[in-house]
Amino acid sequence: MFPLVREAVDSVIPVSQLRFIALSHFEADECGSLNEWLAVAPHSVPLCSKVAAMVSVNDVADRPAHAMADGAELLLGNRSVKWLDAPHLPHGWETGFLMESRTRTLFCGDLFTQGGTGAAALTTEDILDNSEAFRKPMDYFSHSTNTRQLIEHLAAESPLTLACMHGSAWSGDGAALLRALGERLVGNVSQPW
Ligand SMILES: [Fe+2]
Ligand SMILES: [Fe+2]
Repeated sequence: MFPLVREAVDSVIPVSQLRFIALSHFEADECGSLNEWLAVAPHSVPLCSKVAAMVSVNDVADRPAHAMADGAELLLGNRSVKWLDAPHLPHGWETGFLMESRTRTLFCGDLFTQGGTGAAALTTEDILDNSEAFRKPMDYFSHSTNTRQLIEHLAAESPLTLACMHGSAWSGDGAALLRALGERLVGNVSQPW
């Protein structure tokens, strides 16, 4: 899909100006075209967790990664992103997420993956039921023990936009929707988390 995504990105910013090619975790649908991006953006480097850099990216990528620790921030012109480690949520030891502080946008990777084509770029309709209908039969979340704490780690950032990788982005009370997802994952839990 690299040519299609490149064309879409080019409609926002010339791809040659990109400085970071970020990934949540190391999978083909997250970063299979990483080296193609590094080639068309000669001043760019991969951006990922320290674990991702150690176990995969620094071996596979054509340039070394800018590895982010949990809570580390990175100023990007008039935007600023913060790295949030989330090992095994939804899967992958190296997994983490970027939170853009000024627009309160969480780039939430495989969380809230929705079936279908995602006809609306941004929606305020419920996306949880749709994404749960996708998750349950596929069972692609790790059966890990820290789900509750990790969901709270993300919810504490109070995102207003959830930028889904698969399906429509969502606008609303992101902390509440993350906690609702957490309840589906962990089972009914009494507040507070
Ligand atoms: Fe994934
Ligand atoms: Fe994915």
